[in-house]
Amino acid sequence: MEKKKIDWSNLGFDYQKTEYRYVADFKDGKWNEGGLTTDANVVINECAGVLQYAQTVFEGLKAYTTEDGRIVTFRPDLNAERMEASAARLEMPVFPKERFVEAVKETVKANAAFVPPYGTGATLYIRPYMFGTNSVIGVKPADEYQFRVFTTPVGPYFKGGIKPLTIRVCDFDRAAPRGTGHIKAGLNYAMSLHAIVDAHNQGYDENMYLDAATRTKVEETGGANFLFVTKDQKIVTPKSDSILPSITRRSLIYVAQKYLGMEAEEREITLEEVYDFAECGLCGTAAVISPVGKIVDHGKEICFPSGMSEMGPVTKKLYDTLTGIQMGRIEAPEGWIQEIK
Ligand code: PLP
Ligand code: COI
Repeated sequence: MEKKKIDWSNLGFDYQKTEYRYVADFKDGKWNEGGLTTDANVVINECAGVLQYAQTVFEGLKAYTTEDGRIVTFRPDLNAERMEASAARLEMPVFPKERFVEAVKETVKANAAFVPPYGTGATLYIRPYMFGTNSVIGVKPADEYQFRVFTTPVGPYFKGGIKPLTIRVCDFDRAAPRGTGHIKAGLNYAMSLHAIVDAHNQGYDENMYLDAATRTKVEETGGANFLFVTKDQKIVTPKSDSILPSITRRSLIYVAQKYLGMEAEEREITLEEVYDFAECGLCGTAAVISPVGKIVDHGKEICFPSGMSEMGPVTKKLYDTLTGIQMGRIEAPEGWIQEIK
């Protein structure tokens, strides 16, 4: 298979149409057989549940080319499980886990020419999603749904690659207690759009959201979880019912404990404590681990000792180990890497 002629090393995090996408429809209480199509357009009724009441959930994962030239995905079963939880919270049907993983693999395989070669720094981003397709005008769940998977080759999520970011403590809230912050629903991102545009206009790369109830505890950013390194070299990440359970963050905790022999803990973290930490990173599929150099809290600056020119040493070790596992340079824990053949 010949790769597409793409300037892989200079890709940003943008949508680029690839050849195939997967589609399955839910009607009369069941999913149809589903399959690949080359049609990138979705045609639905003007009153579709997704258009009126935002009934849509999604996932994000990547396919990588390993050092020895295989194409692999990273823990797609966890994306399937999270999508199940997201769908249940929005009264949507479950797309079965085995079918989810199969659909992801089938779509990547069909678009193999778009999977960036090893060593380019680029990856194939995979976006599974599901939405209500039939008309609903009273507020209620749809009865018909579509599940789709598309792929797009991407570079780093933040412009400037792995240069430390400057973020601000945000005055808007992302998620309510007992709300939907823990699921991957489009509605959580719609409500973050004003905050991110405002942050960019003020010269910040991202927002740090605090817990909506007390505004004292660290939650997450619009598209990634936080990971901190304490001055005594422990990894700590925020525990909250209103943040997305990041697969990257859960994997990094395991990597820190089992590969690097470090202590790693998920617990509530106050903003006050952050002033004392040694390193900070944003972790997620798109972000991988993006280092944070500075957090601005209403005029007060938290400048991490790791500085503004490179990743802190512990963040770097975590980054190298995780990407080493994903690219096949380091042996993966059982079941983390699924090869696409
Ligand atoms: N938090 C939010 C709000 C996200 O959108 C994402 C991206 O998926 C993450 C965290 C990171 O999750 P994961 O590591 O599973 O990609
Ligand atoms: C991901 O990391 O997969 C996400 O969905 C984050 C999104 C903001 C691009």
